[in-house]
Amino acid sequence: MTFEVTTSSPASQSEVYARLAEQLRSLLAGEHDFIANAANFSALLFYSLADVSWVGFYLLKEGELVLGPFQGKPACVRIAIGKGVCGTAAQQRQTILVDNVHDFPGHIACDSASNSEIVVPLIAGEKLLGVLDLDSTRFARFDDEDARGLNELAEIFIAESNLL
Ligand code: SME
Repeated sequence: MTFEVTTSSPASQSEVYARLAEQLRSLLAGEHDFIANAANFSALLFYSLADVSWVGFYLLKEGELVLGPFQGKPACVRIAIGKGVCGTAAQQRQTILVDNVHDFPGHIACDSASNSEIVVPLIAGEKLLGVLDLDSTRFARFDDEDARGLNELAEIFIAESNLL
């Protein structure tokens, strides 16, 4: 299988995410392995979105978040629920947008170059699976359009993947 990541810049964020939804569906078509799909999903985002320095998953295992497939520099492995941006998003089961990570109490700095972040919880039915985390060196890189788009993509990923 060959897969081309499109990097030309379309007009709007909603177009970016509509295109990504199409690409993600075709990337995951016929494959249901959770880790394989998470790996390809993180690669698709990393190589498609501008100004993103890290994209990856933290998966809920025995009550804590453990590093899963990602793209970017090596990262912290374990995050307690309620700690950092990831642990807070997992605890609140809500997407968290952080314009300036240095102002977020308890932010966990895996990469000192990161300045903004978005974390999307992964929820299947009532079950918390983990979180999808994106970092940027640009302040306020992520907005509500990213939150909406990433939540839609996360839903596609969960629907296509066998839960661990
Ligand atoms: N900054 C995150 C930790 C994970 S890294 O960004 C990859 C946090 O505060 O939870």
